[in-house]
Amino acid sequence: MTRITRRGLALGTGATLLAAPAVRAQGAVFRIGLILPMTGPFASTGRQVEAGIRTYLRQHGDSFGGRRVEILLRDDTGTAPDVTRRHAQELAVRERVRALAGFGLTPLALAAAPIATEAKLPMVVMAAATSVIVQRSPFILRTSFTLPQATAPMAEWAARNGIRNVATLVTDFAPGLDAERVFKDRFTRAGGRVTLELRTPLRNPDYAPFLQRVRDAAPEALFIFVPSGEGAALTKQFAERGLPAAGVRLIGTGDVLDDDILNDMGDAVIGAVTSHHYSAAHDSAENRAYVEAFRGVAPNLRPNFMSVGGRDGMHLVAEMLARTGGSDDGERLVAAAKGLSWTSPRGPMTIDANSRDVVQDIYIRRAERRDGQIWNIEFDKVAQVRDEG
Ligand code: PHB
Repeated sequence: MTRITRRGLALGTGATLLAAPAVRAQGAVFRIGLILPMTGPFASTGRQVEAGIRTYLRQHGDSFGGRRVEILLRDDTGTAPDVTRRHAQELAVRERVRALAGFGLTPLALAAAPIATEAKLPMVVMAAATSVIVQRSPFILRTSFTLPQATAPMAEWAARNGIRNVATLVTDFAPGLDAERVFKDRFTRAGGRVTLELRTPLRNPDYAPFLQRVRDAAPEALFIFVPSGEGAALTKQFAERGLPAAGVRLIGTGDVLDDDILNDMGDAVIGAVTSHHYSAAHDSAENRAYVEAFRGVAPNLRPNFMSVGGRDGMHLVAEMLARTGGSDDGERLVAAAKGLSWTSPRGPMTIDANSRDVVQDIYIRRAERRDGQIWNIEFDKVAQVRDEG
């Protein structure tokens, strides 16, 4: 889907579309440096974010505020913050991009933040989700979600629904620690108990011994946060270790039952309850249009929450350009983004004017089979949740 150009990776179908003569090209090109994991263990994040962006451009054209956007895609492989930083530097200095975007994982977003500040470039975080990220540069805007934002509603739902005793299992890096802390805090405040806290390595995790410990501890539920893509290996082990049969319920943030891989997870996840800002099954006209357009761009993928982070990040840049008459001034562009609200395929969302972070509905969903496929079916929501820090 991507092709290599002398500039690195450029958007395949998107770039062809953008070059078509029918496009309303006026004024100078506005370049966006998009840095994503396109290879390595988190390549699904890169694929989904990129497809979300291309879906937006296909639906809305590529010119905003009189500027035709051109996207320069760079692969940071997902695990090397120094590579992300080098790409950001080169895009800012050599390619003269006017905005940076993407950022698949927290350490990668943190590595690029000082460059956004130095170069005064809007930096749209489309995927990474640790609370602290937006504080690292006044140029950062976030269109993904935050772990505290998604976790608090899950903890409160569990406590309200008779779950008293939970084990937690999180990936041992910043977003996992956010999830662990907020789950424990909210769940214990609501009268529950966390009886076992497990952290699994980010690189090459083997979940089996951790899940054996959960089985031995026999909690009523296991709360899970793992980064997008990891849910396949984890839920497979969850089933193989006999946790469903032992009566341990699976709960978590929606990252574990990521739509990109959910359909292959099998019966062990049916009934699992998770909290998140997006489900491909979200019941709205905007989402139905998005899912259909996304299929046109990426026929073999089901859009997941990473894809809407990309889609809405592209929308944010489009609005920043429209509202500034196509400015190149990073400070003006960021100012134009503050306080913006729109209806996303996920539902209503706002960029908070003070924090520059995303405010959005968090849905409680149950994994169900419908027409032979597995979906996260939303059945409750907490409206307009902010990051609690
Ligand atoms: C992150 O590194 O911030 C991150 C990655 C994947 C997720 C959530 C958060 O699913």
